[in-house]
Amino acid sequence: YSFYLVDEIESTNTYLKENAKDYNDKTVLIAQRQTKGRGRYNRVWVSEDDCIFSILLKKNGAYHLTAPLALCLALAGFGYDTGIKWPNDIYLQNKKLAGILIEDVYQESFSSAIIGIGLNMSDKMEFNAIGLNTKLSKYEIIDAVMNKLSELNKMDIKDVIELYRKKSIVIGKMVSYHDKLYKAIGVDQNGHLILNNDSTTIHVSSDEIDIKESIR
Ligand code: BTN
Repeated sequence: YSFYLVDEIESTNTYLKENAKDYNDKTVLIAQRQTKGRGRYNRVWVSEDDCIFSILLKKNGAYHLTAPLALCLALAGFGYDTGIKWPNDIYLQNKKLAGILIEDVYQESFSSAIIGIGLNMSDKMEFNAIGLNTKLSKYEIIDAVMNKLSELNKMDIKDVIELYRKKSIVIGKMVSYHDKLYKAIGVDQNGHLILNNDSTTIHVSSDEIDIKESIR
């Protein structure tokens, strides 16, 4: 992969989305600051001195599974026991440590995906957020994420799903979805969550679920 480092940018995801055709597969764009960082569902993503980067990928892949897994496994390599809260938030000690925004870009001759990661590096703990509080540099972390991601993208999807299950903090729990109670029993290869109750099994793609049991 090749990487670019910028001081300030609107959003690394927006930039790569708009300029995808000018960059190669596996381009990584790292920013010190974003002025219009975006989260999922058009939420604003505010971060200072965090590990903020986006990866441009020009091949198809099960990125909704491999991206959070790559981050989770990379952090495990540095001794952090994190879990994936479906769809792709990374949790540490029951608090959100990182968010991932995955966007598809369709252009005339090709399609690409952009994986945007915002990893909290601070040493402050908040009500529902936590930082890594580490001496590691963000470049070491990004390098480990890129290595894990390329390993995972070469693996059989069944093995990816198996690894995701192990790291998931939602699978096995009771969740409510549109006011009905289900058990989360797995994920499919599209990254959809599989929910089951006595009468039905459904695959959901949005995260309008509430977990009804405490998570780690
Ligand atoms: C979420 O939890 O809602 C996802 C947050 C994703 C934030 C990252 S920071 C780098 C990249 N650029 C953005 O504008 N967003 C993602």
